[in-house]
Amino acid sequence: MDIQLRRDDDTPLYRQLHSTIAARIRSGDIATGTRLPSVRSLARHLGVSLITVAQAYDALAAEGLVHAAVGRGTFVGGPGGAAPADAHAADGQGHSASTESEWQASIPIYLRAPRIAAMHAMLRPCRRPELISLAGGTPDPTLFPVRALGRLWHRAMAVEDPRFLQYGTPQGDHNLRAWIAAYCASIGIAARPEDVLITSGSQQAIDLVARTLVGPGDYVLLESPTFPTALDIFESRGAKLIGMPVDTSGARTDVAAALIDRFRPRLVYTIPTAQNPTGSTMSEERRRRLAVLARQHNVVVLEDDTCSEFTYDGEAPQAIKAHDAGGHVVFVKSFSKTVIPGLRVGCIVAHGAIMARLVDAKSVVDRFTSPLIQRALWRYLSSPQYPRDLEKARDTYRRRRDTAIRALGEWMPAGVTWTHPDAGFNLWISLPGQITASEAFEEGIREGVACGLGDLFLPHTPPPAGLRISFADKPEAVLVEGIRRLSRGLARLIEREPGRVDEPEFVTSV
Ligand SMILES: Cc1ncc(COP(=O)(O)O)c(C=O)c1O
Repeated sequence: MDIQLRRDDDTPLYRQLHSTIAARIRSGDIATGTRLPSVRSLARHLGVSLITVAQAYDALAAEGLVHAAVGRGTFVGGPGGAAPADAHAADGQGHSASTESEWQASIPIYLRAPRIAAMHAMLRPCRRPELISLAGGTPDPTLFPVRALGRLWHRAMAVEDPRFLQYGTPQGDHNLRAWIAAYCASIGIAARPEDVLITSGSQQAIDLVARTLVGPGDYVLLESPTFPTALDIFESRGAKLIGMPVDTSGARTDVAAALIDRFRPRLVYTIPTAQNPTGSTMSEERRRRLAVLARQHNVVVLEDDTCSEFTYDGEAPQAIKAHDAGGHVVFVKSFSKTVIPGLRVGCIVAHGAIMARLVDAKSVVDRFTSPLIQRALWRYLSSPQYPRDLEKARDTYRRRRDTAIRALGEWMPAGVTWTHPDAGFNLWISLPGQITASEAFEEGIREGVACGLGDLFLPHTPPPAGLRISFADKPEAVLVEGIRRLSRGLARLIEREPGRVDEPEFVTSV
């Protein structure tokens, strides 16, 4: 497809791409029923990120100019429009050979989740057994307290009053909420069990906050880069995303202040400790500043804490919510990294009328989280085993963090820089010069290592171009080998264009 993009233009590339294709469809230059190139191939052809193409296709679909057919691609026209040329091949008995896919092609797809879709498309060819994946951001399953939870699960079934398995309260198990309120006190947050809502993972918590507080056209201010699923959640609400830069002390609140002033966002989403993907932790001073900004501008701050327990050098600073005087900060906590992701338990801590609305939202979405899992989790968290397990996991992950940093120092070519995470599972590699994240990702795959494609973590592309490396779930030897492979791939990329090396500083851009 012959498309010219103006890279020096202020208009984002995805909008340029969208308007070019839209104009050609409207003029009849691209006929109804035409299958558009796949996201991956068009991104490669144009030298843009997968997200850019996925966002452009999403915008075309939202206007009804194209439709996505499950498993087959993106076609010009609505689902009821002319079918693609290859869709009518008949079998010997006069049936359409693709009846099933034609039927599915007529389903309108309302979901807007370009990053998740791009991630799935990208990782599909990467499932080779010999490939080392540093893309996961997941805890090590060998550390999961499976036996303890199994025992507690059986105990709950054996000794609890069966009514505890009845349709329950959307807000969640009182015992678990009381444990969380006590945990909150230990990190400086004043909360009662009534201020806690149990969710099915913290991802659901983000979604509940978004569906309760964010509507079409609202601005959401967030770190760039940040957790890709949160970006898709906010975008699927019709929000406009504004990135705030991150440096080694977390999100730049000086820039945030100016952006809040200018855009009046409905929500500020931040991961202040173990920031995903950079691993940086926001300074105490910036936390206080953000809490003050929220109060001054009456904006809600959504504070996402997945694993501040895994802080490796000293103590994690107090939560932003600890500085919240007016109920402006909504605190979200996950038990996926610290206990087991498969339990799907997280929570929201909020004050005031917002909590009642969030409980309604939970009720609408899935009514309540499994009481059996909540009960077993509460017993585990209250047992002396939990702090012991946490300490063991922290030591293991700290060693892996140190190993990853050492291996990067030893193997990475000049020009590539990386963050030194003080907490969490991830670090961010900044690529030199004009090397794109997609090029670096593909080169890694050729060498037998998969990383997180940096563009997926960005509210907008381009820069900063980078890759995410997750170090928590790999034994140290595998981690080192993965980093060696990636270093080889990046060295080859840099060699190909030697003029392109300049060392980026780790301050991401807006
Ligand atoms: C920053 C961040 N927030 C939230 C989540 C969602 O976690 P869960 O739904 O498993 O609690 C993740 C998952 O990786 C994450 O990285």
